[in-house]
Amino acid sequence: MSEQKRQFDLAIIGAGPGGYVAAIRAAHSGKSVALIEDKELGGICLNWGCIPTKTLLAGADVLRKVKMAKEFGVNVDHFHVDFPAMLRRKTQVVERIRKSLEGLLLSHKIHILRGFGQFRSKNEIIIKGDETYAIQAEKTIIATGSRPRNLSAFPFDYHKIHDSSSIMELATLPNKMVIVGGGVIGCEFASLFKELGVDVVVLEALPMILSLEGKNVSDAMTSSFKKRGIAVHTNVAVKSIDTHGDGVVVHMGDDLAPISADIALVAVGRQFNNENIGLEKIGVAMHPAGFIDVDDHLQTNVPGIYAIGDITGKMLLAHLASHQGIIAAQNAIGIDSVIHYNAVPSVIFTHPEVGTVGLTLEKAQEKGYDATIGKFPFQALGKSQASMETEGFAQVVVEKRSGQILGAQVVGHEAATLIAEMAVAIQNELTLDCITETIHAHPTVSEAWLEASLIASDTPIHFPPKIRRS
Ligand code: NAI
Repeated sequence: MSEQKRQFDLAIIGAGPGGYVAAIRAAHSGKSVALIEDKELGGICLNWGCIPTKTLLAGADVLRKVKMAKEFGVNVDHFHVDFPAMLRRKTQVVERIRKSLEGLLLSHKIHILRGFGQFRSKNEIIIKGDETYAIQAEKTIIATGSRPRNLSAFPFDYHKIHDSSSIMELATLPNKMVIVGGGVIGCEFASLFKELGVDVVVLEALPMILSLEGKNVSDAMTSSFKKRGIAVHTNVAVKSIDTHGDGVVVHMGDDLAPISADIALVAVGRQFNNENIGLEKIGVAMHPAGFIDVDDHLQTNVPGIYAIGDITGKMLLAHLASHQGIIAAQNAIGIDSVIHYNAVPSVIFTHPEVGTVGLTLEKAQEKGYDATIGKFPFQALGKSQASMETEGFAQVVVEKRSGQILGAQVVGHEAATLIAEMAVAIQNELTLDCITETIHAHPTVSEAWLEASLIASDTPIHFPPKIRRS
């Protein structure tokens, strides 16, 4: 049978963490599934985002521990950073996972179609790869993702002005770098490069870095960054970047002195991959900001056409894309499923790490809750003292009347893993009692949730009582 005549129950455009998970979920039902990908299986997350950055950050963490070794009673006399070796390891990890992902997809009998997918009509997709051909699909999930926002005032040249992908291809470490944007990506790379010995300056247009995570988290990260020698300038909007033989000069307006560095990383948000896929042709409704509008079944305004992941303009997170993938696939195969966004964890792999889920205190109050917090510092935990990881805190946001947990924020060692407990709590509408009545193993950092919940309940154990004024 020639490719031109192939028919599928479901086609998925984009094989990132949204698209490939949707493909596997749909394949459980025995439906025929086509997964269309123009670049690499696994998308940005596996190839240029989550996994390679976390591999490099793991290397930086080893270095951090080596630097602390003497305090643990371990003498490491000579060490140096072999950056090319770190990069090689990053590539190996990505390649290994990509290979197993391909095997996994094939084991589920998913048809991987290489090329750029474009709607010719609602049920027909042209695939432009080494050859061009068309397939028929009864239903389609659009999972085309996003890419770094390229500003015309200082476009990427991928040599001195980098985006979050090209920065990972540097052959050597710069002496100094300027990071434009103190959001998630800017802060993760600031943390990584500082650990590797680079002089790092972060420039953020808003009054605080990591502004979406709330004031407590932002303040803690700002002071931690400053303590480690990362220069953080807020209320500073970058206007232009000049490049020259030796590096870059970053301009922030007339009244501020320009900053020179070897390279700049621009991390000012992302733009949606909505072009050339034929959305207009089939009448898919788009938001003016460029993302695809979907309902709570992840269906677009065109019946049978779904969208998931970054292209839906929700939180741009791999794990949310995967979850959306499962919901959309279930709807596409006839299992009625609805998405909820109230318990989406967000994790930032800086040092110290950040984990958040649900509402911050500010957001809870904005929504009209009579809310309070219980905040416990890692300094007061035995496990944190033992491992010399005492920076940061765990905090629960609760409704005073019912004790329901509305949100949680944690800054510190293992924060990204710790936040899972609170995601379960919020997803299942648990109250403080559910946490305080759960036995948390000792000595572990998970005790921070128990202690924070006890503080919020006004019955602190390893923390002094509130001072009561009569
Ligand atoms: P972002 O939206 O988080 O932060 C961009 C920052 O740049 C903002 O704070 C903004 O005020 C600032 N900015 C914009 N223009 C500026 C200018 N001219 N001068 C100075 N500052 C300027 O975007 P980011 O960091 O690029 O991340 C993109 C997305 O990727 C985010 O939505 C994030 O959730 C996601 N992501 C998540 C990760 C994680 O969960 N660990 C890792 C990487 C990305």
